[in-house]
Amino acid sequence: MSYYKHHIFFCLNQRSKGDACCADHAAQAGFDHCKQTVKAAGLAGVGGVRVNKAGCLDRCAGGPVAVVYPDETWYTFVDNTDIDEIVESHLKQGKPVERLRLPPDVGR
Ligand code: FES
Repeated sequence: MSYYKHHIFFCLNQRSKGDACCADHAAQAGFDHCKQTVKAAGLAGVGGVRVNKAGCLDRCAGGPVAVVYPDETWYTFVDNTDIDEIVESHLKQGKPVERLRLPPDVGR
């Protein structure tokens, strides 16, 4: 059994010079909301869900991005409603949110 059932990483990388980056698309707000929602739902901790910050995940063009392991499901999100759906459907019920999947060809 895994230490965490689901581990979600949010890229919070900030770039200078105007290059595309998740920090310019409210990544921090999404991370903060996810952390609070997971905790409030009683999902946080060993055997449950861990929400972590990450540096650049090299998929900047789709930012803001997050990835869930061990499923290796990549997401792009817009607002707290999207985060709520990821938490409820994927992190709680184990069903990935198809509409928020990051297309496979999105890179840096
Ligand atoms: S800046 Fe977020 S994936 Fe690169």
